[in-house]
Amino acid sequence: PREILPRVSTGTGSTVITNIGELVTNDPATGSGLGILRDAALVMADGKIAWTGPAADAPAADASFDAAGRAVLPGFVDSHAHLVFAGERAEEFAARMSGQKYDGGGIRTTVERTRVASDDDLRANVRRLIGEMARQGTTTVECKSGYGLTIEQEERAVRIAAEFADEVTYLGAHVVPAEYQGDTAGYARLAATDMLAVCAPHARWVDVFCEQGAFDADQAREILRAGIAAGLRPRVHANQLTEGPGVQVAVEVDAASADHCTFLSDADVDALASSRTVATLLPGVEFSTRQPYPDARRLLDAGATVALACDCNPGSCYSSSMAFCVAVAVRDMHMTPAEAVWSATAGGARALRRTDVGHLGVGARADVHVLDAPSHIHLAYRPGVPQTAAVWKAGTQVR
Ligand code: NIG
Ligand code: FE
Repeated sequence: PREILPRVSTGTGSTVITNIGELVTNDPATGSGLGILRDAALVMADGKIAWTGPAADAPAADASFDAAGRAVLPGFVDSHAHLVFAGERAEEFAARMSGQKYDGGGIRTTVERTRVASDDDLRANVRRLIGEMARQGTTTVECKSGYGLTIEQEERAVRIAAEFADEVTYLGAHVVPAEYQGDTAGYARLAATDMLAVCAPHARWVDVFCEQGAFDADQAREILRAGIAAGLRPRVHANQLTEGPGVQVAVEVDAASADHCTFLSDADVDALASSRTVATLLPGVEFSTRQPYPDARRLLDAGATVALACDCNPGSCYSSSMAFCVAVAVRDMHMTPAEAVWSATAGGARALRRTDVGHLGVGARADVHVLDAPSHIHLAYRPGVPQTAAVWKAGTQVR
């Protein structure tokens, strides 16, 4: 990705963060949970974590940063975002808050605005939102297409996403555009053939909105399998608005993630628990659409892997705050603060099948989030309060 974040310090050598009150490593080597070290230090060099351990044993480095007893976490991994768009839909949100139902219909409004926007306007929007995320501690961002819905417009969206995002997803099968009204099968075929062919070189993932009013199970399978054949890996928008086939299709194709998981049958929970497919919960969406929250406890108790992400988009959730998602997950979805923080970091990495982010083990990318708080619990305990003190992405300080 192009460099979009201001560098706070330009030092290229090693940096030691000293005096860390609570270091959340998520290091798998420390067993399950957050892998917390107390009174710790961390050294980064060449963009990677080089050392972690007791503050008293910290090796010298070229630069040093005093954490003053605060908590240090891996940067958030936001594994679900739709950032290539123009315009906004504040009126739609206001109408929902007074009773209007969310059915995805507003997506077409954003498609109209996006199609007439210039490349540079779209670039500016993606850059703005990824910058906003970084200032809140998010150091890995996935970004989808899906507001173009023609061959040329989807190609443009994945190409622009690839300039900025860590992970790019082709979502030509977001909804059926107005020109294909009444011919969902025809549009699904386009998304699985010519549109896919021009988008695949810019993307790593293929996604489908598998839902009543969008694409059914057969169409989703066709598009996901075509994507896999073109070298992409699958992920699915599943079970957001009703119980449906999305989760089963996701598990069937070994999708890295089934996203939303708001309405699940027992069979869906079992399928997730006995697969590698992560259940990515997007609590900002339920907050912003007044839907019931997904049942995180049921998934965790069954043994499924849960990730938390923002789903930042102009319709169903216009928030880029992972801290907000953590707070809602703890307060209203009955996740413990430790579970929620793990899901927003290591869980997001699992949902992207990445082993180099989401933890602070030696060798991981040096994505480091210093909180202005003594413990990770404060993310949920002090909702709405900015608590990001400093951020490094791949060893470069961006806040
Ligand atoms: O993840 N569910 C479909 N797509 C997005 C919303 C897009 C929009 O409303 O603009 C989602 O919720
Ligand atoms: Fe989404």
